[in-house]
Formats: sequence, structure tokens, C-alpha cells
Amino acid sequence: MSLKFPDGFTFGYATSSYQIEGAVHDDGRTDSVWDTFCREPGRIADGSSGDTACDHYRLWPSDLDLLKSLGAGAYLFSTAWPRVMAGSKPNPAGLDFYSRLVDGLLERGITPFIKLYHWDLPQALQDKGGWINRDTASRFADYAAVTVRRLGDRVKRWVSHNEPWCVSMLGSQIGNFPPGHRDLKEALLVGHHLLLSHGMAADPIRAMGGAGTLYGYAPNYVPAYPATDRDEDIQAARRFEGYFNNWFIDPVFGLGYPEEMVRYYGSLVPEIKPGDMEAIAVVPDFLGINYYNSSVIHHRSGDWKPEIEDVPMPGVWKTADRDVWAPGLYDTLKAVNDRWKPKELFVTENGAATLDPEPENGTVADPDRVRYFREHLPEVLRAVNAGIPVKGYFAWSLMDNFEWDKGYTLRYGVTHVDFKTQKRTVKQSGHWLSELYRTKTLP
Ligand code: FCB
Repeated sequence: MSLKFPDGFTFGYATSSYQIEGAVHDDGRTDSVWDTFCREPGRIADGSSGDTACDHYRLWPSDLDLLKSLGAGAYLFSTAWPRVMAGSKPNPAGLDFYSRLVDGLLERGITPFIKLYHWDLPQALQDKGGWINRDTASRFADYAAVTVRRLGDRVKRWVSHNEPWCVSMLGSQIGNFPPGHRDLKEALLVGHHLLLSHGMAADPIRAMGGAGTLYGYAPNYVPAYPATDRDEDIQAARRFEGYFNNWFIDPVFGLGYPEEMVRYYGSLVPEIKPGDMEAIAVVPDFLGINYYNSSVIHHRSGDWKPEIEDVPMPGVWKTADRDVWAPGLYDTLKAVNDRWKPKELFVTENGAATLDPEPENGTVADPDRVRYFREHLPEVLRAVNAGIPVKGYFAWSLMDNFEWDKGYTLRYGVTHVDFKTQKRTVKQSGHWLSELYRTKTLP
């Protein structure tokens, strides 16, 4: 097996607006649902917020130098809807920020990939129901048009949604993301409107972006393995994949909602208006997959959702928050390719939170994160060598940042951030990855 990635394979790092930018009141930015959620007592593990985060809104020029020094050929970031839009109108100052950022990337020879939605919905829209309100999908299309109109002359890779499962299920079924509800029926309605917004934004994006614009979609994917070969466990694992993966991907590929799940959910399935499934069916020019872990599933009777067990496979080990099963990344890429045959595939997130020591001698020893990448990158190459059209890989994340409901208690960066001083220190994993990115060869 060749240890070299093909020429033209894209390597980069991913971040998201609310997790790194800070400056939440600057230049006309209004509250997002995360700003308000963080103010609710008990929502965030350490009571923190993204108010300052990595202060990237100010430190972006040196952060782009950091990206460059880490061998990035591309950078996947998100624009913040409440920065770009002032209500229904564009906010020029917010757009200027992203315009400078894009120029800064291009000057450094780094290709920008922009996600339009990495969870920071304007609170003003949440006040009108958020994603439960069908109108939010139209507002998303407006926001997408404004953003692409301004940046589309220089940015050709656009992603509608990052991890719609998280927005729907963590937000409205499990309740540890905003709006913090526990109602599966609501969660499925949210999902329907997210999917609809992916479809509705396509025409404005292609119109504003002009020639060469590529429209992507970036769900998370968790492959499920049955705990035993008992039929009920096999069925439960299938159901988990329906719930977690296929529900959010089948429709954009024109397959509608998976029938098995429609039967299973019954009256929980949202109302589908005539034309909705056709509107949603905008096949992405490239499909991004965020992969972190796999699940082993066993059936728990009488419950709507199968129970998830720790993965009892040989070779499984743990990071600060997950079980690690690197072959699951290959299985994912293969399953995705088999089921949806995307024109292009990208791993849009992959990475690990580990309990890192403080910086010492100008770096941070994070052997478990190095191990994580050392185990996962070969799985990507295995997929490439098997003829699966994987065109790029983005590590999560460029630097430690605000990890949602876990606040600053989990660090996912390949660069350490001292949140008191905002000093950045490249970890050993960052050095390891940048070497791979430069040589495009597995060590
Ligand atoms: C993903 C999110 C990303 C980050 C990583 C660790 O689910 O997309 O923002 O939180 O997990």
C-alpha cells in the first residue's frame, strides 16, 4: 500500500465561529442562541461562554500565520449569522471581517472552505421559534445569499450545515444544546427545516457564487456495530444508523426519509408539505463527513432509541470524552460511498480531546492525540486507495476552543491556548500533523 496521499489531496484544519471568535458585541454582532444559552445557569460545565473564546476576532492575522506554519492547504471555518446579518439586512462590518479573513487566507496560499451554519442561530430568530419555525429556512437562504454575494468572488467551497443531527437532537431531543428541549417530535421538525434550508439556499448560493461554486453538506456520522449477532441487536444497530446518519443524509440525495425510520417514528414524523422532499433533494457537490467515534448498539426493549454501549472491541481505547475505534473511519467512508456515491468526499472533522499538560519547552506533550491522528490518517488513505473519492481531510481543531456545553473543560486543539493570555503553543500533535501535511506521506 502506498503511504503517500495523492497530489491535490487537501489537508487543513477546522474551527467554528462561536467556538473561537469572541468579540460577541463588536461591530454590530447580535446575540446568538449560544450567547443566551451560556447565560442560563447550569447549561455549561464550567459556567463559561464564548464571550472571549480564542479572541480570534482580533488575533486572526497571527492565527492565519499559525495555520500556515501548521502546513494547512485549506481552512474550514464558519461565518456567524448574527455577525453577517443585522436582522433582515446585511451588517457591513461583520461581512468586512470575513472578507479580510478570506484575503488573509488567500495571501498565505490557503484555500477557504466556509460553513454557513455551525450552530450560532441569531437569538432574534429563536425568539420567533428558531428552527421550529419554517420561516427560518427562508431566512437562512437570505443570509447565505448575502454571504456568498460578498465572498463568492474568492470563496468557491460552501457548506450549508455542520452536523444537523446535533442541532436537532442535542438541541431539541436530548436538550444539552440550545434551545434545551426534550421532545423528539420537535427535534424531527427542526431537522426537517434544516434540511429544507439546505435545499432553499442552493439556488441563491449558486447564483451569487458564480462559476466554479461548489455546494457541500457536512453531517456527522457514527457507524453502528451490533453488540451481538442476535437479530434484535442487528435491528437496533440499523435503527441507530437510521436515526443518526441516514435520516439526515438520504433526503439531500433525493432518497426521501428512510422508510424504516418513518415507520418506526410513526406520528412523530414532521408534516411534509408538497414539494418539500424535492426542495431538500439538492445533491451536494461534495459531502463532508465529521467522524469521531463508533458505537456498539444493543437492543433495549420498549424504548424508541437503542442503548449505546461502550465499544467492546479489541484495540479500543479512550480519550477524555470518547472511545476510539479508528477502523470505524474507513467503515464510515466506505458506507457513505456505497449508499450515496457522492462525487467528492471530505473528512470535515476528526480529532480528539485529551487531558493535556501545560506547555513546557515551547510545546505540549499530547501523545494520545498524536496516537489518534496516527491511527486515523491511515484509514483515510486506505479509503483513497480503495477508490473512494476522498479529496481532503480537516483536523478538528486548529486550536483549543470553547467546546459547547463542556465549556473549556475539553481541549480539542493541535495548538494549546492559554485562555488568560491568549498565547498559542503548538502541541506535539500539531507538529506531527504539519509534517504529514507537508510531505503528504504517512510516517
Ligand atoms: C463536533 C462539532 C465541533 C466540535 C467537535 C469536538 O461535533 O462539530 O464544533 O465541538 O465536535
